[in-house]
Amino acid sequence: MASKLVLNRLRSLCRVSQLSDVRFDKLRDPLSIFSTSQNHVAWRSYSEASQPTPINPPPPPPPSPNTSTTTSSSLNEFELAKFSAIAETWWDAEGPFKPLHLMNPTRLAFIRSTLCRHFRKDPNCTRPFEGLKFVDVGCGGGILSEPLARMGATVTGVDAVDKNIKIARLHADLDPQTSSIEYRCTTAESLVEEQRQFDAVIALEVIEHVADPAGFCKSLSALTIPGGATVISTINRSMRAYATAIVAAEYLLHWLPKGTHQWSSFLTPEELVLILQRASISVQEMAGFVYNPLTGRWSLSDDISVNFIAFGTKSAKKDETLD
Ligand SMILES: C[S@@+](CC[C@H](N)C(=O)[O-])C[C@H]1O[C@@H](n2cnc3c(N)ncnc32)[C@H](O)[C@@H]1O
Repeated sequence: MASKLVLNRLRSLCRVSQLSDVRFDKLRDPLSIFSTSQNHVAWRSYSEASQPTPINPPPPPPPSPNTSTTTSSSLNEFELAKFSAIAETWWDAEGPFKPLHLMNPTRLAFIRSTLCRHFRKDPNCTRPFEGLKFVDVGCGGGILSEPLARMGATVTGVDAVDKNIKIARLHADLDPQTSSIEYRCTTAESLVEEQRQFDAVIALEVIEHVADPAGFCKSLSALTIPGGATVISTINRSMRAYATAIVAAEYLLHWLPKGTHQWSSFLTPEELVLILQRASISVQEMAGFVYNPLTGRWSLSDDISVNFIAFGTKSAKKDETLD
């Protein structure tokens, strides 16, 4: 399958780039991608980067009123404020979350096929995820959590924005099939502290909004049972993504509020494979989402240059996460 070829190419790039030494804070620097040749991805090693010595360490951040967390490494308050401001619109299919509503069938198709294969479930039955525990991290108003629950999964949805969780709860309670979803205003790292674990951990369109993507992936891994699965979707830090996901979607077509995405916060597929690998999650399959402006529909594709989704598995051996 072509998507497997894409993945093999990514894996070989990861090997070439000595990925064990990557500094992800440096990957936030958009100019860093221009400092590489075509065949070499934008990795920077610890040895290449000077280590800044803080003179006055900043005071610890105040606890967020929106969360019930004790650790908050993934929280980016600036990003959370944007979601809080539009929380009421989650279920407006023509509102700011229209792109996610339109993408939902396509991303659910990917989740259904990869997770059914992994957990040896029949993808053609109506409730293939019966008996499996899923967590939807950064669930927003629950537009993914609900169909997962209808497919039989026992779903926990968590989001750092309290308003999102309230909207998700209200909406899920409208249907007996979704009213059993456990919604909580919290973070992945807080669930780790509570020693929660799930068969599958899903975080769609969240990693580009968190403060520390590598730490976030470690939390996702810790939440995944040995032998379990992780699914992440995000946007590639490519020029095409800048042109389409930011300039077109936010400024020309007004699909999303201006400022929804910061290009420098996007991860390339190679970077995502790497940080998941460092968190003991081995990416098995990756696919792109492409939009057809004529039909208004999204479909799965081998083109991962803008929106992409990755399915990975955690080693069946316990506690292999690298520090
Ligand atoms: C673009 S939305 C995606 C929502 C949902 N995953 C989907 O795809 O339908 C990103 C969500 O992640 C949440 N979020 C951002 N940072 C988070 C964090 N550190 N922990 C939990 N949720 C977070 C935001 O509040 C927002 O609801």
